Amino acid sequence: EAQEALREVTGRGGRTVFFGGAGVSTASGIPDFRSVDGLYHQRFDYPPETMLSHSFFVAHPREFFDFYRQRMIALDAKPNQAHRKLAELEREGRLSAVLTQNIDGLHQMAGSRRVLELHGSVHRNICQRCGHVHSAEWIMGTEGVPACEECGGPVKPDVVLYEEPLDQDTLNQAAMEVANADTLIVGGTSLVVWPVAGLIDLFQGDRLVMVNLGETAADARADLVCNVDIARAFDF
Ligand code: OAD
Ligand code: ZN
Repeated sequence: EAQEALREVTGRGGRTVFFGGAGVSTASGIPDFRSVDGLYHQRFDYPPETMLSHSFFVAHPREFFDFYRQRMIALDAKPNQAHRKLAELEREGRLSAVLTQNIDGLHQMAGSRRVLELHGSVHRNICQRCGHVHSAEWIMGTEGVPACEECGGPVKPDVVLYEEPLDQDTLNQAAMEVANADTLIVGGTSLVVWPVAGLIDLFQGDRLVMVNLGETAADARADLVCNVDIARAFDF
């Protein structure tokens, strides 16, 4: 039923935009944040929300990078049916853009070209001194606090940590995509993290579709709510 609805809504023409979060990658084996088995319900030496903050990165870089290597980078994760279908829809001219809060790069791996990574990516780790970009693979080959392979300077993941602003250009482009969309499909996100959650307020189109295992605050405004696994919903 969700499959039929998504097939229909993506087949109608007009501008369609997908806006997703961690739930898009759970079927690829990457836990989300707020579900019962999500990252924020697991026990660590520090709360994960603390470890994902800019002040923790500065004060405890060693612990930050241990957590980053163990929990944020998932090199063996593969795209699932949701990623694959979204890439296919773009190739067919049925999807304008993917907006994602995920940092795993799986949309690009599936072949999507216009991906706006609102919270950055583990695949870019930038030297704060010379700007050299290091891969996630390179990070996984380091221990402790990594130093730039070019100049020895400090390396920071190009990931938006708590207390940090989002990239303004990416946010602006995402806002334009939502504002110009006729159809907005929102999937696998709890819509509780700002400013990204506010993007859907810019939607002026006529078809808002939610695909999420649980309820969200935007359900009341949606034209269609599908409480199903998103990898199954995109299997059409
Ligand atoms: P959340 O963990 O908050 O929400 C994921 C949502 O996806 C939940 O509502 C789940 O019910 C749903 N979900 C899980 N698996 C699903 C599946 N297979 N099919 C459909 N729905 C599924 O993750 P986000 O909303 O992405 O930010 O979290 C937003 C931000 O909070 C993240 O980008 C991260 C985090 O703090 C930063 O790290 C800056
Ligand atoms: Zn450098």
